[in-house]
Amino acid sequence: MSGIPHPELERWRTEFPILQTRTYLNSCSLGAVSRRSMGYLGEYQALWNTMGASAWYELWMGRLGQLKQSVATMWNARETEIALSPSVSGALSSIASSIDYRKRNRVVVAELDFPTLVYQWLARPDVEVVRVPSHDGIGVPPERWAEYVDERTAVVATSHVFYGTGYVQDLSGAAAAARRAGALFLVDGYQAAGQIAVDPRAVDADVYVAGPLKWLLGGPGIAFLWVRQERIAELRPTIASWFGARDQFLFRNDELEFRDDAGRFSMGTPAVPTAYTALGGLEIFAEAGERKIYERIAALTEDLVQLAREAGMEMKIAADPARRSGIILVRHHDAPGAVHRLAQQNVIVDYRAGYVRVSPHFYNTPDENRLFIDALQRC
Ligand SMILES: Cc1ncc(COP(=O)(O)O)c(C=O)c1O
Repeated sequence: MSGIPHPELERWRTEFPILQTRTYLNSCSLGAVSRRSMGYLGEYQALWNTMGASAWYELWMGRLGQLKQSVATMWNARETEIALSPSVSGALSSIASSIDYRKRNRVVVAELDFPTLVYQWLARPDVEVVRVPSHDGIGVPPERWAEYVDERTAVVATSHVFYGTGYVQDLSGAAAAARRAGALFLVDGYQAAGQIAVDPRAVDADVYVAGPLKWLLGGPGIAFLWVRQERIAELRPTIASWFGARDQFLFRNDELEFRDDAGRFSMGTPAVPTAYTALGGLEIFAEAGERKIYERIAALTEDLVQLAREAGMEMKIAADPARRSGIILVRHHDAPGAVHRLAQQNVIVDYRAGYVRVSPHFYNTPDENRLFIDALQRC
């Protein structure tokens, strides 16, 4: 017995063809594609081919609505709080454009956040970006945020899970500091959604962004934006698209009235193929059981950490297992070379600044963890 919970979920491995030919441990970059998603992609192509533009109104708009509803259900949210965007960067820039920086011109982020989150405000000459440092290069303790957030702060923006260390932030400190200062609290949950439970209200966020590309197994081309119902009306974007207009199909170009719901942050025609593949991924989550998936990822993470320790490997991960997630950084003197050599042996992982980055999903097994560690030792 491996001690990894929910071994019955291994039956889902046949749903992901890549697992038959590769040891695929890179879901934090790109989740594996399922037969379900590929089937949906085929359905989308067939509709395009047989119905042409009428597929838009009769079916594709419905699928886009279904996708928003599925995300809302997964996040304990209302569909009116969800918008689809072409990328997390697009969703973030729409929100960043909605804020008046004349009274408050600071945005507080973490040193460890993904660049695109910070770039939204580095790109604006009217904003001063304040970066909360990490004392260990791995995480940021919740109490640090209060030192950097004050009445000059317009937005506190940070990650739920840091992409470079897998550290799961306790967001309570950042949320409380934002509330006290009257700032907007924005969470980038791209590395959280699909590997830990996400409930934007439970972490007291005003805005939460993620997408289907990674852990949610849905592919690139769409991101999910949640905006707290009570904050939507006060956020008026200064970048716009006809999908965000209240009466989109009246085609008025003499005035712009934004939608009342989060749809006002939409950025043009969505990637319909991704709506289809993303629905496939979300269905698998619902059928396999979200909670089981998260428990399995957590156990596979600890298994991998233990194997790496036994092999004497150095890692950049949280000391507290409660703050770890399925992104494990293993030091290597030649990480890009090791990743390349592993790929030649059909072991797919990634690297970040001196470390091999490995990310097991629920469809992986302890045997694959062992195979990876053995192969890395030879690299
Ligand atoms: C935490 C995080 N945020 C944002 C992004 C980038 O999102 P996008 O390319 O959709 O703008 C990534 C991509 O790896 C990420 O890990």
